Amino acid sequence: MTNGTTSQISSRLENVRDLRPEERLDLVAKTVGLDDADRATLAGHDVLPLSLANGMIENVIGKFELPLAVASNFTINGKDYLIPMVVEEPSVVAAASYMAKIARNCGGFHTSSDRPIMRAQIQVVGLNDPHGAKQRLLAAEAELRQMCNARDEVLVALGGGCIGIEVHVFETSAVGPMAVLHILVDVRDAMGANAVNSMAETIAPRVAEISGGHTRLRILSNLADRRLARAYVTLTPDALTTKTMQGDDVIDGMIEAYALAQIDPYRAATHNKGVMNGIDPVVVATGNDWRAIEAGAHAWAARSGRYTSLTTWERGVDGTLTGTIEMPMALGLVGGATKTHPAAQAVLRVLGVSSAQELAEVTVAVGLAQNMAALRALATEGIQKGHMALHARNIAILAGATGSQIEAVAKVIAEQGHVSVQAAKDVLAKL
Ligand code: MEV
Repeated sequence: MTNGTTSQISSRLENVRDLRPEERLDLVAKTVGLDDADRATLAGHDVLPLSLANGMIENVIGKFELPLAVASNFTINGKDYLIPMVVEEPSVVAAASYMAKIARNCGGFHTSSDRPIMRAQIQVVGLNDPHGAKQRLLAAEAELRQMCNARDEVLVALGGGCIGIEVHVFETSAVGPMAVLHILVDVRDAMGANAVNSMAETIAPRVAEISGGHTRLRILSNLADRRLARAYVTLTPDALTTKTMQGDDVIDGMIEAYALAQIDPYRAATHNKGVMNGIDPVVVATGNDWRAIEAGAHAWAARSGRYTSLTTWERGVDGTLTGTIEMPMALGLVGGATKTHPAAQAVLRVLGVSSAQELAEVTVAVGLAQNMAALRALATEGIQKGHMALHARNIAILAGATGSQIEAVAKVIAEQGHVSVQAAKDVLAKL
């Protein structure tokens, strides 16, 4: 799937902040070449009919709306992207766009990813000889792989399918020994849960026969460690210089901040929350399963036995700062809400990605940009100043400001440092 234009788009949207939402949508539609139907969908007029919502989950009583925004300035592997983000937190989209602007002046983000390989686990219990069972199962790999692939000929025709198995042996205090067979499946452009769960259920009876045990769980693992996506960015000190701090000092501060996340789970949780501030909004906007992404991210961050940072930040010999991210990214372009939710389809056309791997790479680059924003803010003026400036807009609206009053009221209360509804009402009364 690609966006409407065949040529490279520019993700530099000049003065986009000053536009009204309809004007921004016009600009985005023009930039990526959206048709009128997609434009209407993104405008949000009854995008998800209640009948469709009712078919998606059970006991539906209505719909719940969130803002959809676009982060600008992203260059990834030399290609510009506009990044649709669905999120309720102020300053996330502004921070991503600002960091992408700094990064693009330094060559942008660079990414890579693994083949889209998911795992499913088949738990075998009731074994006296789990190590023997492991060897019998490994000896039957070709048969089990063939059974999996016969279950999903469409996937195989697309170039995917089961590529192998692993067997893990555990001694448990609760039920004694067990063997756990993993099937490794290339799920192509799907998230893959349905494909691997069906295969696991299909082969479980044969796994029981071969192993001599009983099979119990047959389900994917959200620790998608064979489906990693990576991004990095290299920034010059000049690019990081602020009004009050030299770039070298900003780099020192960012590396010190990272060092704490590397070693201390209390900080790593917040550091990674900042990473997910960039990732989740893209996952939600594209109709993907954000709980799966969150589960995979945090399990990966704890893989050494100590929960740590999803990113790294280092100074090179030339004094530049390089940030990296590597994490599981089980995203799909087909199936689930990605397929059924009309807005997710339009969002994918804005993004202009042509494979699930490309989507995964773009998404982790946004996570890295968001982490860069948090570390840069924490290393310089702190996060509250910028956060409050944006939060002030919401408060101004709550106080009754409309149109141009919103910016005017927000500016005064942010400058005063009193970001409250009462303060906004007082300013509004004086305007
Ligand atoms: C706030 O939503 C996210 C941050 O706390 C992330 C961080 O501290 O790195 C700013």
